[in-house]
Amino acid sequence: MPEITTPRDLFLHELGDILYVERVLAEETLPRLIGEVSDDEFRSGLETHLEETQQHVANVEKVFELLGEEPEPEKCIGFEGLKDEHDQLVEESSSSLLDVINTGAAARTENYEIAAYEGLRRMAKSMGEDEAVELLDENLKQEKDTLREVEKIATRLSNESAKQAASA
Ligand SMILES: [Fe+2]
Ligand SMILES: [Fe+2]
Repeated sequence: MPEITTPRDLFLHELGDILYVERVLAEETLPRLIGEVSDDEFRSGLETHLEETQQHVANVEKVFELLGEEPEPEKCIGFEGLKDEHDQLVEESSSSLLDVINTGAAARTENYEIAAYEGLRRMAKSMGEDEAVELLDENLKQEKDTLREVEKIATRLSNESAKQAASA
């Protein structure tokens, strides 16, 4: 018998998946990234997003409560894959490329989160869980704004590093 048989089961499973991602981002990934990057604008953007991410964790936990459930993280294999790939790329690359590589990792993560929240808010909407939709939309909007910021910084850093390589 499959464990996930109703739309509500599926919603809770996906909610646990994003809870796992948000907690790892807040506790490990973002603090580590903040320590790694050398560009000031990128670092301060990551610091802002760390604060937002702590709120994302709280919002996701609240959605569990709204549905009368305990917050239960579900190990997210997709996100673990993104992290492994990133770690391997960093190992293989020269340190002058680290900031550009990290903008790529940040953009991939934001896109993952955006897809997750789009799906979750759609499912919550169809179940008539309007308060949950509001909380999920708060997170979704900040992920979209963050992706736009990351892309802007990534463009500048790519241009700078290409110029540096050309003049070296
Ligand atoms: Fe988030
Ligand atoms: Fe994010």
